[in-house]
Amino acid sequence: MVRRDDRARTLGQRPTVVWFTGLSGAGKSTLAELVEERLQERCVASYVLDGDVVRAGLSSDLGFSDVDRVENIRRAAEVAALMTDAGLVVLVAFISPFRAERAMARQRFAPDEFVEVHVDVTLAEAERRDPKGLYARARAGLIPAFTGIDSPYEQPEHPDLHLDTTTIDAAAAADAVVALLEQRGRLG
Ligand code: ADX
Repeated sequence: MVRRDDRARTLGQRPTVVWFTGLSGAGKSTLAELVEERLQERCVASYVLDGDVVRAGLSSDLGFSDVDRVENIRRAAEVAALMTDAGLVVLVAFISPFRAERAMARQRFAPDEFVEVHVDVTLAEAERRDPKGLYARARAGLIPAFTGIDSPYEQPEHPDLHLDTTTIDAAAAADAVVALLEQRGRLG
């Protein structure tokens, strides 16, 4: 029987979850994709698990109530767990607004396997960027329970890495994530 250690050894890497949390428009997906490019250059097998993509498929039955968000995060954590069983470094980019659900996700993994990255941005800056036009629609009352407007975002208290994306650019943020993974011995 092939076990998770065997798969990781075949790939020659240490399966890890990098969990990016932050407001919509903070730059989680962009950052996860940049980190994945850096990992690819180092021949690290990885995968970006993106909230928008998961919500279009696996979680297409869910909305944005608190209960549905918790279920969405439970599914993301379970899929990430399967991917780490397969030996991958998984880059998870979900708003994941509640502390309790992020703690639940963390508990699904060994302590050294899970790295929480707060992709921080002020609400004002996220609204200014508004890459999908969603904040404008939420302010107009067209999207109920929008994170930061009328649904809470609970700031991480002790993230493994805090990145203020209003002051550092995406490339520097990606470098910081890779440096942390290196420092933790996750990149071999
Ligand atoms: S989470 O809260 O369940 O973690 P997730 O990351 O999957 O959220 O999805 C967030 C994306 O869904 C946003 O980037 C945005 O494109 C879209 N979206 C649609 N409605 C909402 C809403 N009410 N609140 C937040 N994001 C929303």
